[in-house]
Amino acid sequence: MQATNVVILAAGNGSRMKSDLPKVLHQVAGRAMVDWVVAAVAPLKPNKILTVTGVGAKQVQDHLAGKSDFVVQEQQLGTGHAVLQTKQALADNEGATLILSGDTPLFTTETLQALWDEHARTKNAVTVLTAFAENPTGYGRIVRGEDEMVLKIVEEKDASVTERRIQEINTGVYIFDNQLLFEALSQVGNDNVQAEYYLPDTLDILREMGQQIGAYQTMDFSESMGVNDRVALAAANKIMRTRINRGHMQNGVELIDPDNTYIDAGVQIGKDTVIEGNVTLKGKTVIGQDNVLTAGTRIEDSTIGDENVITSSHLEEALVENQTTIGPYAHLRPLAEIKDRAHLGNFVEVKKATVGLGSKVGHLSYVGNATLGADVNVGAGTIFVNYDGVNKFDTTVGDRVFIGSNTKIIAPVTLADESITAAGSTITDDVDFHQMGIARSRQTNKDDFWDRMPHKKG
Ligand code: UD1
Ligand code: CA
Repeated sequence: MQATNVVILAAGNGSRMKSDLPKVLHQVAGRAMVDWVVAAVAPLKPNKILTVTGVGAKQVQDHLAGKSDFVVQEQQLGTGHAVLQTKQALADNEGATLILSGDTPLFTTETLQALWDEHARTKNAVTVLTAFAENPTGYGRIVRGEDEMVLKIVEEKDASVTERRIQEINTGVYIFDNQLLFEALSQVGNDNVQAEYYLPDTLDILREMGQQIGAYQTMDFSESMGVNDRVALAAANKIMRTRINRGHMQNGVELIDPDNTYIDAGVQIGKDTVIEGNVTLKGKTVIGQDNVLTAGTRIEDSTIGDENVITSSHLEEALVENQTTIGPYAHLRPLAEIKDRAHLGNFVEVKKATVGLGSKVGHLSYVGNATLGADVNVGAGTIFVNYDGVNKFDTTVGDRVFIGSNTKIIAPVTLADESITAAGSTITDDVDFHQMGIARSRQTNKDDFWDRMPHKKG
């Protein structure tokens, strides 16, 4: 594509979403809808991408900063009026202008390229991308004459009963000759049910001007979905996830139940990793090879190496090396770092802490603000007491340390290599090499106590 402008319409208030967030910032598979649109056009190397913003303009502009230029449509008077706001920026340009909506996130670059090729071949004044819809409700319909030539586009709300039966719909993607676009736009009125200036009216106008107009029908309706409400948002997510999941499976990842596996765009997964259903992988997550992730696992912005078994656990901003076993029901929070062959058992929470090579935290523990060396054994119910209500304090645990069950480690404290804590201790002082720290009151046994038990009285 050459000498081309791209205009993305993103000013509408998206009232049908019933949301405080501008519609085009709602996410599909972890990316804002408008990001998908920008990503689909980017490989076409347009000269300029111009996004029309309005409702939530600042939010949308901040979001797209560096990827697009902007114009503001102060009042949302319709898609034709929206494009008119780009006149100052674009009207002098020769060449073509590709227009898309920020709420149609599913178009592929291939489809847009095919539209471009058709537009270039036919030398139309405008070529609109259309699709055949099983259920065309809500879309503008493509009205063709007896010779099958495109006459105009009619919005559903303005359509006659016969027109509503038409199943060829306007996808909202067009390539215009840039000069003719603005000529036609100046003639668009708002004499319709919604009292809006409709961009699709330019087709009728151009035809009346004696210009050649055309349509290119894509085979895959699912790409054309426009997201106007939450029902469509869920449907678009489903389509996108199906695409993403298929890609992973083709790369050698085993998805046991792909319909119920939620993997964001951009997540990387190595081959022979097996993922059960109801697993969610989000953000900048990178997962290596030969891992097993069982149902209920949710991983966000984390890096996982190879050959780990992660069972029904939640990880956020965590780093897991190789051959670990984690869970069920472990919670790794930001800056958790789990080294090779370590084990975290059930109900273990790790935050801003390193669990060293081969170390084991088997049951019901909290490890926060700590560095654990290699082959440490952390007994059940151990708590790293890292917070005094105001400040956090660090604990250092050397190699081969044995921490007895139900130890409370009141940081800051250092447990040297091969030191031990006695079960039930509340450790407040450092323990040196080969020492055992014991910090609990001694047991005393009182005689003849049974009869003094309250439940035994009277
Ligand atoms: C639009 C088309 C319809 C097509 C459908 C495809 C019109 C009049 N109708 O309908 O033929 O089948 O898309 O999805 O164009 N916008 C602005 N400023 C405005 C109004 C809208 O920037 O004043 C933006 C919206 O933010 C949105 C896009 O334009 O991203 C489309 O607007 P929307 O209201 O969603 O139009 P549809 O009713 O879906
Ligand atoms: Ca729409």
